[in-house]
Amino acid sequence: MSDNLVKTLFEQQFSASPELVCHAPGRVNLIGDHTDYNDGFVLPAAINFGTSIAATARDDNKIVVYAHDCDQQTSEFQLDNIEFSEYMMWSNYVRGTLKVILETCPQIKGANLVVSGNVPQGAGLSSSASFEVAIVKTFVSLFDLDIDGVKAALMGQRAENTFVGCNCGIMDQLISAMGQQDHAMLLDCRDLSFEDAPIPTGLSVFIVNSNVKRGLVDSAYNLRRQQCEEVAKHFNQPALRDVSLEQLQSAKGQLSEESFRRARHVITENTRTVEALTALKANDIARMSILMKASHDSLRDDFEVTTKEMDGLVDIIDSVIGNQGGVRMTGGGFGGCVVALIPAEMVAAVTAEVENQYPQQFGLQPNIYICTASQGAFR
Ligand code: GLA
Repeated sequence: MSDNLVKTLFEQQFSASPELVCHAPGRVNLIGDHTDYNDGFVLPAAINFGTSIAATARDDNKIVVYAHDCDQQTSEFQLDNIEFSEYMMWSNYVRGTLKVILETCPQIKGANLVVSGNVPQGAGLSSSASFEVAIVKTFVSLFDLDIDGVKAALMGQRAENTFVGCNCGIMDQLISAMGQQDHAMLLDCRDLSFEDAPIPTGLSVFIVNSNVKRGLVDSAYNLRRQQCEEVAKHFNQPALRDVSLEQLQSAKGQLSEESFRRARHVITENTRTVEALTALKANDIARMSILMKASHDSLRDDFEVTTKEMDGLVDIIDSVIGNQGGVRMTGGGFGGCVVALIPAEMVAAVTAEVENQYPQQFGLQPNIYICTASQGAFR
């Protein structure tokens, strides 16, 4: 849908048809949050919302990019002089990603681009990762670059870490590049190996945006990461992935109470995430339900990245589905979305309960997205 839109918009902006259109999806994480940057495990799925880019190569070094959803702004810059923009923050995803591409592919030329996407921004569904991966895919296609999906994901992450300023892990970009239709993916964030995990037929991927405005997300996120790295260092290990729950328990007295809880979240979440793959493969929804609930509780109590609105949404949904489905917050937290796996026949009842209870309890309107697991941009 947005592929057609960018094509039409391109024709309006540049009075010619685009050479090509590329698309990269956003993602929802079923379980395994704040584990990726600890070299741990995650279980995300790419979703049927994403970023589309219509593009034509130029034979000079200029980039002209029109962003339909960002106040219909156009940003222009030269490939040999890429600077951070304070005025068009959205353009930094293009600038940062191109700067990273140029490190290994200096032969690329400029391009005319039109971007539009339907991933809700700032909702924890990875609108930025889908933007970065869509940019890499566009330049790979325009200039026939030798970059596979894993490399593309690493480039997007590097742009985010070094140019945009968020020390995110690899999950969002990797699933946007390598997701498989109708599947989630167990990803080992240390060696980047992954296994597709079927989403049991009859289960809907039900996402609710709490519409809580997320503030200071990057600094709170970066702080969590730093706390985790400090605990790993305490154990002389490269990452929390390498610390067992027993080791952590026995060092309890040597860590601050807060550091202990942060690490306990990561270590237990890794175990839950690996187990979730087994549960999904066995179609064991009751087990999935327990794992998702434990994950949410841990993110709320130990990692402290939920909000009362997200906790409330989880309770509302849980009260309808019980052990016939699972529900938890998803993504970085501090606002944004919750995700639920719900038997298709219960979707109407859950929708009604959320639309009724959430505004009453929190004075906010929820947005509900019923998603399907989609194909990554490089798959
Ligand atoms: C954000 C980051 C990811 C990951 C999640 C939390 O989405 O971009 O790398 O850390 O938060 O799981």
